[in-house]
Amino acid sequence: MTTDAKILSALRANPDGVSGAQLAEQLAISRAAVWARMDDLRKVGYDIEASPHFGYKLTGSPDALHADDLLARLGKTKVVGRDIRVFEETTSTNDVIEKLARDGVKEGVVVFAESQTKGRGRLGRKWSSPTHQGLWFSILLRPKLTPQETTQLTVASATALRRAIKNVTGLVPDIKWPNDLLIGGKKVVGILTEMSAEVDCVRHVILGIGVDVNQTDFPPQLCAIATSLKAEAGEEISRAELAVEILRELDFDYARICGGKFSDVADEWEAGCATIGKNVSVQMGTRLIRGAAEALDDDGALLVRTEHGHLERVIGGDVTLEK
Ligand code: BTN
Repeated sequence: MTTDAKILSALRANPDGVSGAQLAEQLAISRAAVWARMDDLRKVGYDIEASPHFGYKLTGSPDALHADDLLARLGKTKVVGRDIRVFEETTSTNDVIEKLARDGVKEGVVVFAESQTKGRGRLGRKWSSPTHQGLWFSILLRPKLTPQETTQLTVASATALRRAIKNVTGLVPDIKWPNDLLIGGKKVVGILTEMSAEVDCVRHVILGIGVDVNQTDFPPQLCAIATSLKAEAGEEISRAELAVEILRELDFDYARICGGKFSDVADEWEAGCATIGKNVSVQMGTRLIRGAAEALDDDGALLVRTEHGHLERVIGGDVTLEK
């Protein structure tokens, strides 16, 4: 943890205040250096009161995301979020992670951007990423899975995000295969999984996640199909709090998968899934499959019983729930 992350962590752990002397001792720096760090934190939007009686007290945090603060709030995780980087603007956070992956950076690194100029979605679609209104981030993973098994990560990311949203907002989204989260039939989270692999082993996986948090104005073409957590909850949501909860839950589910417990994740996914038991149509390239979505298989693929009675295994494509 950086010095700022340690300071923010100490301030949050001591809501009634912590003395400069105590901080200086904990961090092995001078009291003047503590004072200088506080001043810099104030400049980026933290409200920190200082009094001879209580010491330093955190009374407000900015809405902007700060890597040190996210690290401080998250604390220690097994893998996801042990390194966090925040950019004001990028093309796509998946591109940034791709470069880090090629540079050999360890798995678990997370890149957030306050806005993306070329945010992308599944099937070559654009992803709108307005500044400071959502969470736009990507995670590097290097799982010991075959390319086929990586659908497990896609499924796990949906369960983790669903729990995190429930914990922070009380809203319980539905899952649409493979990993869209919907509230009232409108999309609130999209996940783009990209992978670099050889025939039988994965080099790395990039989980790119977009959460519509505090938008109120959607472009006309999205109004009918997208919503935000703020629009549904009726109040502003703390993006930092939600980001930390998501990383914590993703770390938990990644450990479940790496520990061979995908069946637990799959059970949870099926319980929260709006797709199972419904009639669906799936566009896979030029092929259209119609049938009833029956279950997930051991690798997270969707099993669809067609009108001819065949069981089709769907690992990609665009799923539409039939009315
Ligand atoms: C989808 O539903 O089509 C997936 C959308 C994924 C969007 C996120 S935002 C962060 C990351 N960077 C991108 O360019 N895309 C993903």
